[in-house]
Parts: sequence; C-alpha cells; structure tokens
Amino acid sequence: TGLVTYDGGFVNTAACKSAITFIDGEEGVLRYRGYPIEQIAEQGTFLETAYLLIYGELPSVSALDNFRDEITQHTLLHEDVKRFYDGFPRDAHPMAMLSSVVSALSTFYQDSHNPFDEEQVRLSAIRLLAKLPTIAAYAFKKSVGQPMLYPDNSLGYVENFLRMTFAVPAESYKADPVVVDALDKLLILHGDHEQNCSTSTVRLVGSSQANMFASISAGINALWGPLHGGANQQVLEMLEQIKNDGGDIDAFVNKVKNKEDGVRLMGFGHRVYKSRDPRATIIKKAADDVLSRMGKKDELLDLAMQLEERALADDYFVERKLYPNVDFYTGLIYRAMGFPTEMFTVLFAIGRLPGWIAHWQEMIADPKAKIGRPRQVYTGVALRDYTPIGAR
Ligand code: CMC
Repeated sequence: TGLVTYDGGFVNTAACKSAITFIDGEEGVLRYRGYPIEQIAEQGTFLETAYLLIYGELPSVSALDNFRDEITQHTLLHEDVKRFYDGFPRDAHPMAMLSSVVSALSTFYQDSHNPFDEEQVRLSAIRLLAKLPTIAAYAFKKSVGQPMLYPDNSLGYVENFLRMTFAVPAESYKADPVVVDALDKLLILHGDHEQNCSTSTVRLVGSSQANMFASISAGINALWGPLHGGANQQVLEMLEQIKNDGGDIDAFVNKVKNKEDGVRLMGFGHRVYKSRDPRATIIKKAADDVLSRMGKKDELLDLAMQLEERALADDYFVERKLYPNVDFYTGLIYRAMGFPTEMFTVLFAIGRLPGWIAHWQEMIADPKAKIGRPRQVYTGVALRDYTPIGAR
C-alpha cells in the first residue's frame, strides 16, 4: 500500500468504469451509449439525447412525450429563487450566477439530499433539466437589466429558452426556426464527453454522497475555466483581438509558438483527441450553414478559417497533434444568434447537463463506487522541530 503511482492531470488513470460515452481519441470517434455522434446530431433532438444519456436507451414516442411533459412542468423557478439575482452585481459573470443558483436549489428541495432515494434522484434530474435554461436566461436578463419572463409551457425546450432570453414584454417574439434547430444540435454535441474536468468534478463531489444539485454546481464551476468550457468565450475574444490588431495571423501564431505570455491558440488541442475532434467537424459545417442561412456574413468566421488552415500547416501544431476542438467554431454561431460572449459557456453547461446527471446517477447506482480520494507524492520537508514564535 505504500506504492503510489504519480499521474499528474490523470493522463493515464481510469477513475471509474462507465457505460455512457465511448471516445477513441486516435480515430476521432465519439459515441453516446453506442450511437455515433454524427447520427445523433443528424437525426436526434436534445431531449432525446438527454434521455438516451441518462436512461441508456433511446426513448419510445410515449416515453419521450412523458419525459418532455414532466420537464415542461418544472421549468418555473420558485419566486424566492429569483431574489438571488437581486443580490448579484449587474456585471456578474453568468457562470457564477448559474453555479450559485443551482447550488441554492438544494435549499429548496431538501428531500433531494439522500442520494439513494430513487424517486428524489429522478425528480432532481428532471428539475435540473427543466430549470437550468430558466436560470441561464435570468442571468442574461440580469445583465441587460430587463424583466425576467416566465417560461411558456407551450414551447419546446430550446424555443422556450430563447424566448426567456431574448423576448421583452410588450413586444412579440418568435424564435427563428434556423436558430432553434442549430442550438438544439449544438446542445446535442455537448451532451457528454466522458471523464472531462467538469464531469470528473461532478463525480468526485458526488462520491462523498453530496446531493445532485451540489455536485452539478461544482461541475459548472469546473466548466467555467478557460482550458475547459470557458474556451468558447476565449476563442471569440482571441479572434476579436487578432482583428483589432490588424488581422495579422502570422504574428499571432508566432506568439503562440513562442509561448509569449503563455498565449495559446484557444479552441485548439485536446487531451484525448489526437487526430480530429468529431464535434468540431460537425460544428464547422453548421457554422457555415447557419451563418449563411441567417444571412450573416461574419468576417471573424473567415479569420477563424484562415487561422485554422495556418495552424494545421505548421509544424508546431502538427508535432503536438493539435486540432480544432468543439469550442473553436461554436462562439461564432452563438454570436450570430445574438448571445454575448459571456453567455457562451452557459450554453455549454446547458448542453453538458444530461452528461453530468448520467454520470452522477451511474456512480451512485454502482454498489462498488468508493469515495474519490487520490493519493499524492509528498515533496515537502520530511521532519523538523517547531520553533517558538519568539525565536523565529
Ligand atoms: N495552443 C498552443 N499550444 C498548445 C495548445 C494550444 N491550444 N494546446 C496544447 N499546446 C501545447 C502545450 O504547450 C504543450 O507543448 P509543449 O510540449 O511544448 O509544452 C503540448 O501542446 C501539450 O499540451 P498539454 O497542455 O500538455 O496538453 P493537455 O492535454 O494537458 O491540454 C488542453 C489539453 C485542451 C487543455 C490544451 O490543448 C489547451 O489548453 N487548449 C486550449 C484551450 C481549449 O481550447 N480548451 C477546450 C478543450 S475541448 C472542450 C472542453 O473540454 O471544454
């Protein structure tokens, strides 16, 4: 037992067994419950995908109807939850509001604290799926100073979210079907990605048998970081910076290669994918499609494509097997849809939620699951005598 293996960043350590998502990083393969991501993105919807991830099988028509109905019934936030937003400063980052409010939900659903109460666990999952878009839309409303709108239960999941985000009282609003479809697809592509940083966080927190709200709130915070989901905001800020600096791609790439100020090409590279990120392939095409169907010509899209081409032809990126990841093109689509950059990672969180729930449930249901408790290699002073304060 004195034998501890060091694996910084868990590059080679499997922390669990899981039947949810399969990735082959060498071949660029991603499957949810055995179904190729390309087929799911082409034929499925986000709620079907959520059902598949959480329950393991594609829903029948009636199972999907029930699932959708139940989610729809839980979209409302308790009026007291809305008061949390009064306390946040106007320029609060929406990811901070998202994780705080999700954590606060556990104060409203105290029956959910026992992770082995199956009915409560089922309800917590439904509540989270139903309420996260409402929580996200209110974070946006807070930032622009507009009134919060109640959910409209006659609308679909994505349409309802778009309406709560972009509609203002007294003005009619109808979400663009192109936007609804595209956002639904993007959410599917973010649905799960096995043991990434945020999902591992959800599992680690949940392994102490903390409730689902507490665990997923921690996952949201992990997702926020710029090396993880926060990269989608960073990509857009990077593209804008390059444009403002005169559009000199070579100068930027050289800066990255020389690791000046630790600058990275955001939206490039992945711990597991070493030949391509299959999600990025689908998204690049969607970016092109959506922007042209919405009639938006985006010079940042051209810049992104040139940057990608330039990087893929450069030894620095080739040698390190760095390719565009899921975050490289998403921001351009979100921007065309009207979301401010700060909301990009929130959209990632809405998409990743079914994955977090599925992993939390899989772990809690595993009779062999143990509390997550990594070991360490101690590098400090071995032993010394305490010096009294007067003698230091
Ligand atoms: N730009 C420039 N150099 C890079 C990049 C990049 N985006 N990514 C990795 N490298 C270099 C890194 O400097 C290192 O070079 P060297 O051997 O000379 O020190 C080498 O490639 C290996 O990098 P690493 O940091 O050891 O790789 P990792 O597996 O620990 O990190 C990563 C994976 C995704 C954090 C990293 O590629 C990165 O920081 N990318 C930019 C942020 C990003 O786009 N994140 C989104 C990831 S996909 C979706 C998600 O998880 O949210």
